[in-house]
Amino acid sequence: AVGAAVREFAVGDKVFGTSGLSFGAHAEFVCMRESARIAHMPAGMTFAEAAPICDGALNALTCLKQADLRKGRRILIYGASGAIGTAGVQLARYFGADITAVCNTKNLELVKSLGADRVIDYTKEDFTKNGQTYDVIFDAVGKHSFRRCRGSLEPRGIYLPTDGFANLILALVTPRLGGKKVLFQIPPRQTKQDVLFLKELIEAGKYRPVIDRRYPLEDVVEATRYVETEQKTGNVVLTI
Ligand SMILES: NC(=O)c1ccc[n+]([C@@H]2O[C@H](COP(=O)([O-])OP(=O)(O)OC[C@H]3O[C@@H](n4cnc5c(N)ncnc54)[C@H](OP(=O)(O)O)[C@@H]3O)[C@@H](O)[C@H]2O)c1
Repeated sequence: AVGAAVREFAVGDKVFGTSGLSFGAHAEFVCMRESARIAHMPAGMTFAEAAPICDGALNALTCLKQADLRKGRRILIYGASGAIGTAGVQLARYFGADITAVCNTKNLELVKSLGADRVIDYTKEDFTKNGQTYDVIFDAVGKHSFRRCRGSLEPRGIYLPTDGFANLILALVTPRLGGKKVLFQIPPRQTKQDVLFLKELIEAGKYRPVIDRRYPLEDVVEATRYVETEQKTGNVVLTI
């Protein structure tokens, strides 16, 4: 159903979005405001393809928006094969940045195909020891740290984490010190405009969600176990 004052949506429209920290998206029905993070599904997409956009891509976008990515800016994306990582590579490509992506051997080709300029296999090389520096380091998988990455950042470089209590403290302190800093928003400031931006990117052929596996809702336990291996490539989707 739609409320009497709703103009953007009609009964039967296919929509995608996120209810944020109120969750509940496995429910049969969910009530959301017209102004919430919700939009018409991108043309030609299925529900299964649209669902992960508001997870990995929206989270990657929220992080990357803080880093003024553009042509000439050098970014390293650590954990480039995950939900946030595969989105981060494609968004950084769209913003025109020079991208070094770090992942495991098995995902090198995929990550390159998403738009990385160069790929480092973390099983063979430690990027913190090769002497290269970056304007931005995005830890898209929560496995690195500002302390270990510091030496690989330019003097006013930005470290973007996705996880970790210590990063909340560092994000309060380091921006006041004027040098290398951690930027981390909790809760993430995600807007309807962000969802509309991603929809446009998809329709322009500039973004595609990477889906590793799909499970029916009945197999949610098995799906969760697979996600908890921390070895998925891109996203895992539940089909309802
Ligand atoms: N997804 C969200 O909506 C969301 C929201 C807020 C915060 N977060 C946080 O963001 C982080 C990433 O979430 P995600 O869902 O994108 O992760 P994910 O998809 O579960 O990450 C899995 C990927 O991480 C890689 N990986 C595992 N261990 C690694 C390591 N030591 N070094 C480099 N890569 C490694 C794996 O590939 P390999 O084969 O290379 O190991 C795999 O491709 C998590 O810390 C999560 O808590 C997620």
